[in-house]
Amino acid sequence: MLYPLIFNTEMQSAMPKITDVMTHDHKRCDEIFAQAEEAVTQEDWEKAATLFKEFEDAVEHHFIMEETVLFPAYTAKTNLSSVTDALMQDHMQLRIIIFEAGESIKAKDQEQFLGQSETLLMMQQQHNKKEERKLYTMADSAFRVEADEMLAKMGMA
Ligand SMILES: [Fe+2]
Ligand SMILES: [Fe+2]
Repeated sequence: MLYPLIFNTEMQSAMPKITDVMTHDHKRCDEIFAQAEEAVTQEDWEKAATLFKEFEDAVEHHFIMEETVLFPAYTAKTNLSSVTDALMQDHMQLRIIIFEAGESIKAKDQEQFLGQSETLLMMQQQHNKKEERKLYTMADSAFRVEADEMLAKMGMA
């Protein structure tokens, strides 16, 4: 039997908002990527290019929001830069492989794209796990009060 879930404002503010919103955005990027990969498999290059562009834009927006809002706020609050430094390095590596995969789509090179896509998925999965299990969880406890404001700044509220 299903019970209706009723949240009051107090309960909502105790929910891990940053983790929820950012994890949801990771999933959104993954889904667009899966569609682009499917289009490459079907050799529908026009569709693949459109979807891949959509994926690139979604990921870049996500990265920029983390790099300009979440990471600096986290570093300032905790005085710890080791976690965010490592995550920034992941972003740089991911940007390179995303660029290369995009070039393979332009060249209509299915085999090369699928090889790069495997690497990209593995790297992205590891990166997202680090953020979801560590950074976002820690940010939720560090920014209990400011979570809404921060998500609004990132355009994710
Ligand atoms: Fe990230
Ligand atoms: Fe992220």
